[in-house]
Amino acid sequence: MSVHIAAKKGEIAKTVLQPGDPLRAKYIADNFLTEVKLVSKTRNVLYFTGLYEGKEVSVGASGMGIPSIGIYSYELFTEFEVDTIIRIGTCGAYSTDLKVYDLLNVEYAASESTYAKFAWEIEQDLLSHQGKAFGLINDCANEMSLDVRATNIHTSDIFYRKTPGIPAIAKKYNCSAVEMEAFALFANAQYLGKNAATILTVSDVIPTGDQISADQRETALAPMIELALETAIKMN
Ligand code: HPA
Repeated sequence: MSVHIAAKKGEIAKTVLQPGDPLRAKYIADNFLTEVKLVSKTRNVLYFTGLYEGKEVSVGASGMGIPSIGIYSYELFTEFEVDTIIRIGTCGAYSTDLKVYDLLNVEYAASESTYAKFAWEIEQDLLSHQGKAFGLINDCANEMSLDVRATNIHTSDIFYRKTPGIPAIAKKYNCSAVEMEAFALFANAQYLGKNAATILTVSDVIPTGDQISADQRETALAPMIELALETAIKMN
């Protein structure tokens, strides 16, 4: 049991899939896992452990934004002996080279956030995925004939802003899309020597306003969920 996760020691698997939304965690547990157990519901941030193809995997939410994923990923790594976290989320594309439903495997996350600096004295504003999960995701995508693009993304603290357009840091590091969590996950994993990856589905294309509708989201995310689960069971 940690400050924000009520599971007992041993109730969380070595590899955790982490969507932002607790109800997405429940959807994955209900539809993709067997022998599911709800192991934490503190603050309604649901964590489940079950089996995928006979192997133990956990799925639980990060919440939205750097502070939230910073807390949950840190507690998973340090209090539950989790080795790997695979974030599965959505992103807004900065470029019309991307379309809704495209899948991204994040190579580097760039951020204006001071999280890595003040938490871990990591000065860089561009952090890499950590460990072998990123490569395994690419291998699994090939095996599954899924088109997944390795790319840099922008982790922003800001969803609504006065001036539209691509922020300077995203231009500097050639970021094709924006989300709000990967940088903190990578910072924690780098500091703690753990594995961390982020797979994203493009949910909206910012320059055109194209977006996946709310009722399309569940089915739209199935390829990403299956890719993350196939990767998870190959991690150990
Ligand atoms: N900004 C930040 N995060 C997001 C977006 C966005 O436009 N779309 C999906 N996640």
